[in-house]
Amino acid sequence: MFAVYAAEPKPDDPLAALVVGERPEPSAPEGWVPVRVRAASLNMHDLWTLRGVGIKPERFPMTLGCDGAGTLPDGTEVVIHSVVGDPDWTGEETLDPKRTLLTELHQGTFADVVVVPRRNALPKPASLSFAEAACTGTAWLTAYRMLFVNSGLRPGQTMLVQGASGGVATALVQLGRSAGFRVWATGRSEAKRALAEELGAHRTFEPGARLPERVDAVFETVGRATWSHSVKCLRPGGTIVVSGATTGDATAAELQRVFFLQLRVVGSTMGTRQELADLLSFLDLTGLRPRIGSELPMERAAEGVRAMLDGETAGKIVFTRD
Ligand SMILES: NC(=O)c1ccc[n+]([C@@H]2O[C@H](COP(=O)([O-])OP(=O)(O)OC[C@H]3O[C@@H](n4cnc5c(N)ncnc54)[C@H](OP(=O)(O)O)[C@@H]3O)[C@@H](O)[C@H]2O)c1
Repeated sequence: MFAVYAAEPKPDDPLAALVVGERPEPSAPEGWVPVRVRAASLNMHDLWTLRGVGIKPERFPMTLGCDGAGTLPDGTEVVIHSVVGDPDWTGEETLDPKRTLLTELHQGTFADVVVVPRRNALPKPASLSFAEAACTGTAWLTAYRMLFVNSGLRPGQTMLVQGASGGVATALVQLGRSAGFRVWATGRSEAKRALAEELGAHRTFEPGARLPERVDAVFETVGRATWSHSVKCLRPGGTIVVSGATTGDATAAELQRVFFLQLRVVGSTMGTRQELADLLSFLDLTGLRPRIGSELPMERAAEGVRAMLDGETAGKIVFTRD
């Protein structure tokens, strides 16, 4: 079958690891279902996979893609929850030590067919297109959990999103505005800041800028490049929710501010199946739709990967398959 995959890890040249070609069609084990992929979206996670970060060398070749939407053999339209858990785990899903994201152990969604456990194929609301639905399983789910489960923010309070144009960042801006928060964002260029404002940010700032007042919570995926600013922007008792470190680990943890101002630093990763169901319901009820910055046929996946590598995002990058 057609597939876009990482042939082998290439830490310094991730595009060189990308192959648009053919892979064996997977068969679904007992309790799993095949999903014919109609759309899938690109995440930074795919770039980490191409670089060999977070995946064992013996797992290559690996079909990319942790987000997708498509149809079951009976025609049911579904959205894929990409966290595959240990069937014996009984605790909170995101704390399951044996959980894996598609593309870490199991093949991903950039293909004609992906197989997933039956519970990981959620009904797609009819109001969402396949392309829109394909944005929800990773970046949007992560943003949903950061904002509504882990931040402790109440509507009316002020949130700062570090980054303006990325998948998680645009989701945070759109969700925050839609749910009644005062949304501020930083962006690396005027065009990126304009995008955030178009998506609902009340104000935008250059990275590292002094803000008019301290905020109740900061949402971090950038890491080293913005961490000190994030800590300095918080009011006493405020919260940083962190789910990524695109630019690497923070070199200064800013511990004195953390303890003296009694700041909370909360890690957040992906979300549960129920949170994805709730996110889909939120989109259905509000009419909010993920911003798709570019939509390409899956055969042109390399162009999307190039854009993300160059930081040229304007929302989600979606690949479609007829
Ligand atoms: N823990 C989880 O479950 C989880 C889930 C999803 C994503 N993540 C992580 O979250 C991060 C973002 O993922 P994504 O898919 O949203 O990626 P993306 O679409 O490529 O977005 C990258 C974001 O980083 C921002 N950024 C700011 N300064 C930057 C700099 N100096 N260099 C590079 N980027 C900078 C960009 O802001 P501008 O608009 O200013 O360019 C943009 O918003 C990644 O590290 C990813 O691994 C984690």
